[in-house]
Amino acid sequence: MKLLVCGGAGFIGSTFVRLRLREHGDEVTVLDKLTYAGRRENLHDTLSEIQFHHGAIENPAAVADALAGCEAIVNFAAETHVDRSIADPADFIVTNMQGTHVLLQAARERGLRYVQVSTDEVYGSIDSGSFTERSLLAPSSPYSATKTGADLLVSSYFHTYGLETVICRGSNNYGPYQYPEKLIPLMILNALAGDRLPVYGDGRNVRNWLYVEDFARGIGHALSYGAPGEAYNCGGPDECENLAVVSAILQLTGADRSLVEHVTDRPGHDRRYSLSAEKLEALGWAPRTRFEEGLARTVDWYRDHEWWWEPVRSGAYREYYERHYGRALKS
Ligand code: NAD
Ligand code: TYD
Repeated sequence: MKLLVCGGAGFIGSTFVRLRLREHGDEVTVLDKLTYAGRRENLHDTLSEIQFHHGAIENPAAVADALAGCEAIVNFAAETHVDRSIADPADFIVTNMQGTHVLLQAARERGLRYVQVSTDEVYGSIDSGSFTERSLLAPSSPYSATKTGADLLVSSYFHTYGLETVICRGSNNYGPYQYPEKLIPLMILNALAGDRLPVYGDGRNVRNWLYVEDFARGIGHALSYGAPGEAYNCGGPDECENLAVVSAILQLTGADRSLVEHVTDRPGHDRRYSLSAEKLEALGWAPRTRFEEGLARTVDWYRDHEWWWEPVRSGAYREYYERHYGRALKS
């Protein structure tokens, strides 16, 4: 199959590209704007096997150019960090909503199958139990609100124009190649460098953790077997409080507990996310990696891939970090 993978130079998109080449023999074109989070380095071992287009999904000409010969679109492209969406939502509206609309139009004009990669955050927070695909959409942050807007647009293209759309909503991902603004890679790299580990609020927020290859395979399942017009939740096998995640990272890195620092809570911080993945499991998908094993593998990967993260920690990321956390990185 020939796929257009939008946002394929990001964390999850690059993992998806690698798996589709290795496990399915697909032909892949990547369209990516290469924002701070998108890096050719994420695709370093696949660049000779794919077509790479540097461009934005909100640009119809770039989309038309990249789409030549493709049979389906899988859209990972997004602004993805909640804290950045709180500081400045403008880019989130352009990429997550306007960009999705441009892709839907292009799919409609060509009659292509369309997979939208979405998130558990569209359902908002849940104190107990898990969200199903029939749960109310109640996003809390500008990030999740724009992802929800995109999901609704996708559904409208199925209902109104009969476009073959599928939505796949993942829980919190972790694994290799994740930009170190997100909890797990940030804590691993700070622990390895002897920098403080900034825990928001009381640290008792709960996330449902999904190893990135499991999500990539879940999206592949939705692409192959998902019914048009449907959404599928792709939830991880384990949930964990943030403080427990940080403790596990301290243990795996051998860093000192005194590095942990409670900092001001995120405004509107969702307490708990949880997804029921029964509907996707009925299509034959199941997560393969438990959190304990995946976290150990992830710590090992960051320890062994300084070439990947060193340029990030010495670039614009340092300014972002200082602005957001009010302190400089030590190293
Ligand atoms: P990421 O931030 O690592 O990557 C996003 C990619 O999109 C980057 O390569 C970036 O350059 C590209 N991009 C951004 N704006 C673009 C634009 N206008 N045009 C073209 N490319 C653009 O994000 P990720 O963690 O890999 O997330 C991928 C998708 O999965 C997103 O849609 C996100 O909402 C969803 N998701 C993420 C998680 C998670 O835990 N990370 C969980 C569930 C769902
Ligand atoms: P994050 O990785 O940003 O994912 P999301 O907010 O999309 O779930 O954050 C995961 C959890 O970790 C969330 O409860 C916020 C918390 N967190 C911290 O405590 N400190 C941090 O420095 C970051 C980035 C997140």
